[in-house]
Amino acid sequence: MQILKAFEKQEREQATQAGALGPLDDHLYMYHMPYSYTAEQIRKLRTHIFHLPDGRPAPRVIMVTSALPGEGKTLIASNLAVAIAKGEDQRVLLVDCDLRKPSLNDVFKFSRSKGVSEILQGRAEIAECIISTPIDKLAILPAARENPANPSELLESKRAAALVKDLAALGEDWFIIIDTPPL
Ligand SMILES: Nc1ncnc2c1ncn2[C@@H]1O[C@H](COP(=O)(O)OP(=O)(O)OP(=O)(O)O)[C@@H](O)[C@H]1O
Ligand SMILES: [Mg+2]
Repeated sequence: MQILKAFEKQEREQATQAGALGPLDDHLYMYHMPYSYTAEQIRKLRTHIFHLPDGRPAPRVIMVTSALPGEGKTLIASNLAVAIAKGEDQRVLLVDCDLRKPSLNDVFKFSRSKGVSEILQGRAEIAECIISTPIDKLAILPAARENPANPSELLESKRAAALVKDLAALGEDWFIIIDTPPL
C-alpha cells in the first residue's frame, strides 16, 4: 500500500512537471480515439497543410479562426496540434491567443500560467512561458495567468505582430498553431 501511494505521488509529480492536472479533455480525439472518424478528418487536414498544390512549401505558422463563437476553432487547433506532433518531424507549439476566454488550459488540463498576455505587456519572454504536455513534441504557450482588461488592444498592438515573428523565428524545427478568438 505504501509503495502504491509513493508510486501515485511520483506519477502526480511527473504529471505536474508535464503541466497536466488531470486526464486530457475527451474532445482530443487524436489522442483518445486516433482511429475515429473525426481523427481521420484531422489527419486529412494535416495532409492538406503539408502537401500544398503547385509544390508550394508547407507553412510553419498557421492561425485557426472563424467568424462566430463555438464553431470549433479550439477543437480543430488542439487536435491538429496532436496530429502534427505525432505524424511529422517537427515539434508543435500550440498558442492560445484567445485572451478573453482562454480554453487550451481546459483541453490540456493545466493551471492558468503566464503567456501571450504577459509577453504582449512586456512582462515575460516566450521561453519562460512555454509549458510541456504529456504528448511528445507538443508544447503550449498559454494565454495568460489572469485575463487582461484590454484583450483586443493587446492583440492589435505592434507587439502582437512582433510576437508572431518571434514565434516563426523559433526555427524550422517548430510548427506553430495559433488558436484565436472569433473574428
Ligand atoms: N465539428 C464539430 N461538431 C460538433 N461539435 C463540435 C464541433 N467542433 C466543436 N464542437 C463542439 O462545440 C463546442 C465549441 O467548440 P470549440 O471550443 O472548439 O469552439 P471555438 O470556436 O473554439 O469556440 P470559441 O469561439 O468560444 O473559442 C465544444 O463543446 C465542441 O466540443
Ligand atoms: Mg476557442
